[in-house]
Amino acid sequence: MRSLLIRVMVTFFVTTVTVVVGLILVVNYQVSENFNSYLYMSGMHGIMMNHGKMAAMMGVPERQFITSLKYSLALAAGGMLLIGACVSYYLARSIATPVIDLNQAVNAVAAGDLDATVIVERQDEVGQLAMAFNAMTAKLKSNTVLRQRFLAGVAHELRTPLTILKANLEGIADGIITPDVEQISSLTEEVDRLTKLVGELRDLSLLEAGQLQPEFTFLDITQLLRQVLGKSNPLASEKSISLYSKIDDELPVIWADGDMVRQMVYNLVLNAIKYTPDGGQIIVGATAKNSMLQIMVTDTGIGIAVEDLEHVFDYFYRVNSARTKESGGTGLGLALVKQMVLAHGGKIEVASKLGQGSTFTLLLPMNVQQKA
Ligand SMILES: Nc1ncnc2c1ncn2[C@@H]1O[C@H](COP(=O)(O)OP(=O)(O)O)[C@@H](O)[C@H]1O
Ligand SMILES: [Mg+2]
Repeated sequence: MRSLLIRVMVTFFVTTVTVVVGLILVVNYQVSENFNSYLYMSGMHGIMMNHGKMAAMMGVPERQFITSLKYSLALAAGGMLLIGACVSYYLARSIATPVIDLNQAVNAVAAGDLDATVIVERQDEVGQLAMAFNAMTAKLKSNTVLRQRFLAGVAHELRTPLTILKANLEGIADGIITPDVEQISSLTEEVDRLTKLVGELRDLSLLEAGQLQPEFTFLDITQLLRQVLGKSNPLASEKSISLYSKIDDELPVIWADGDMVRQMVYNLVLNAIKYTPDGGQIIVGATAKNSMLQIMVTDTGIGIAVEDLEHVFDYFYRVNSARTKESGGTGLGLALVKQMVLAHGGKIEVASKLGQGSTFTLLLPMNVQQKA
């Protein structure tokens, strides 16, 4: 575990030792050379003397000088090596410790501890790596929580219709319930609910995996919106809700999957009808803005609280589960809309005020081709 620290430290220290020893040797050689020339120049010895003999003929002060020089050099070398060792240790620590910490955290995550984080103290590449690691673990954790919630949601949603079906079938088998038309149609409704749920789950998983790609064609959005409005009108009338359209003239043709766009808008309009009290008003608008086609569905319904707004696109999220379940929703409608609009390279936005109403806005990228 600590081997990186030791390796880096030894590398630094060996470099320091090499530099210091080299430096001392050079200084020693240079000083000796210069001292010899000095002795030679000062005429204390004969011109013909060579270096070896000269040393033997040095006087006491010269010998003392050389000894003191060697001593000073050794002292300087010792001091430098000590400083070198300290600096090596400090540098090695500052390089190796974050890597060691990161390594420990990675091992902890691998062992399943998603709360493992590393402390970011630096802004350099190692600090950035630590930050990226923390962001990655946070994402991993939130994905795990989402997956658990998703599974719990699926189990919960499947349970209710299955329980109803089983109880009724047992009742019929025991002769307690008579399988009349009403009974059968009620059971068929449960089967339809299950089929719808399974279909939505399938679409969602395929969309998320990128295996369900939009089949792009040129779309006349005005015509498409009129179709959706026509289909939704009977439902709105049932609740005496006025359904208006506010579609710009001369909308450009867009490059999108017709079925998906139809389903997205229909889901939004159905929600608007569902969550708007009798006598309310719904406006479906469309306009082209900043190379995006905006489709707005505005209602005067119950609205969504601020704390729920960011969750309405989550799987199985319902603001009021009792009420919305009654109205037949699976809690997957908006999640589907979100995945579909993302598959188109667009996005969905929501603005809402509790008790006043909501506006869902689909933003779809427009193709450059304009309507003739
Ligand atoms: N137009 C709206 N007005 C108020 N609340 C809404 C509106 N649309 C969606 N919601 C809230 O968002 C939740 C999620 O919507 P959705 O995914 O379509 O699920 P479902 O309609 O099946 O309940 C709904 O349960 C509801 O609480
Ligand atoms: Mg819905």
